[in-house]
Amino acid sequence: MVKNEYRQDETKIYADKEGPAKMAEGIAMLRAYESSKPEDERICYDPYAINFINPKILDYAAKHRDEASAAVENNSGSIVARVRYFDDFVKKMIEQGIEQLVIFGAGYDSRAYRIKEMKGRVKVFEVDHPGTQSFKVEKIKEILGTIPEHVVFVPVDFETETFREKLFSKGYNPSLKTLFIMEGLLMYITPNSVAETLSFIAENSGQGSAVIFDYFPESVVDGTSKLKIAQDIRNFAIQQGEPLQFGIKDGELDEFLSNFGFSNIQKITSEEYKKAYFHGKNENRNVCELVYFAHATIE
Ligand SMILES: C[S@@+](CC[C@H](N)C(=O)[O-])C[C@H]1O[C@@H](n2cnc3c(N)ncnc32)[C@H](O)[C@@H]1O
Repeated sequence: MVKNEYRQDETKIYADKEGPAKMAEGIAMLRAYESSKPEDERICYDPYAINFINPKILDYAAKHRDEASAAVENNSGSIVARVRYFDDFVKKMIEQGIEQLVIFGAGYDSRAYRIKEMKGRVKVFEVDHPGTQSFKVEKIKEILGTIPEHVVFVPVDFETETFREKLFSKGYNPSLKTLFIMEGLLMYITPNSVAETLSFIAENSGQGSAVIFDYFPESVVDGTSKLKIAQDIRNFAIQQGEPLQFGIKDGELDEFLSNFGFSNIQKITSEEYKKAYFHGKNENRNVCELVYFAHATIE
């Protein structure tokens, strides 16, 4: 099980899969930290994130404020950019008329609750490991008093069960225009599970549906990258019992996704998201060059 101690590297926040959402909790902590900044300084804003963090971690961070702030500041760049980029993409897709949002590996994603444009227009399916999800459901009830009508929870372990039937039994409609989010997920599941998920999306969604995800290059996952940060990310994942399992070869994103039937394939590099979001006080903030975002559509 995870030791809930503060860690100096964003990759070190991931923890083993047992128990509710330690990886998800680490990411929520980065969102909570960013959200505590003034409006004109923060890259992303998630007022719900703080509710999912173990009070012991908050206590530790409060007692070691300078050390904690410096470490988070230096190591959260790509994560907060990812949250912001995905938020902007979700809003754009709502404007373009999506009727369903499926969040695979949802963790403590709060978009269903904080993106107001969603309400009354988009049905949200949160798909996640049962252990993580049951904790989230209780927390959401505590925060909001109830589960909003537009949100449906689909507890599933991708590695041992198929999510197809569960999603359909919860009311998923394969003919509607849908956005699928896989944030901080693909690198931790097997290539087979990745393929199964992408096939499902391509074969079971309405015209104009889209998928958005982040990924590492395959050289990080198989250990052939000589970059120190790549080795650190890989080794830490192994050490935590959460080995990286899936990456995409440099230059092969288009071929990889088009084989499943996707088009309008876009890759977003760290230089691009840094340029888009990191200005003023954030100008010199680090981002991780190995974290890519991608999106594509089904036409
Ligand atoms: C790093 S967290 C990211 C959470 C969230 N998407 C975010 O960005 O804050 C990874 C999520 O994937 C889920 N996950 C990992 N392996 C899974 C599996 N085999 N089946 C279902 N969910 C899984 C975890 O429960 C966790 O919520």
